[in-house]
Amino acid sequence: MIRKNLWVLISLTVLLTACDPNKIFGTRVTPPKEEPKTVEYQLFSPSVAIAGSASAKSVKVASAGEKKYVSCASCHGGDGEGGVGPNLQGQTLSYIKGRLTAYKNREKVGRQSVMMWSQASLLSDADINDLSDYISENF
Ligand code: HEC
Repeated sequence: MIRKNLWVLISLTVLLTACDPNKIFGTRVTPPKEEPKTVEYQLFSPSVAIAGSASAKSVKVASAGEKKYVSCASCHGGDGEGGVGPNLQGQTLSYIKGRLTAYKNREKVGRQSVMMWSQASLLSDADINDLSDYISENF
């Protein structure tokens, strides 16, 4: 009887050990698994490499909007910071598009809208789209 109980106890212990050695007697037998720290790096390194090589070679293709903005920079600043014309920084695409369309239609927005009427009269719908894209994305 005692031998049988002992046998059951031993086999139970072996079974438990096989299942999860850390749980037995409440002590940790094996050190905790470390999170694979390299995963994030491996995931993002290709884009970092691409961005890095692009900036290293300073490859920069001017967008259509960027080229068209050259004529606006004299009044609105190279970075849209403003000057004769108001600051354009932080404006949304739809806001800029709305304004340019209004000026093209000779609508009065502010006191100096006349200045923009002449500018906007030269812009096609595609120009307005390109410029709105460029200004809202870059300033
Ligand atoms: C001769 C100077 C001048 C040039 C060049 C010029 N602007 Fe303006 N712009 C102004 C002024 C002044 C205003 C304010 C008009 C008003 O009172 O409604 C203005 C207003 C604007 C606004 C509205 C800003 C706001 O806060 O509501 C936008 C957008 C804008 N210009 C975009 C452009 C773009 C794009 C170009 C180039 C195609 C351009 N401007 C060229 C002078 C200029």
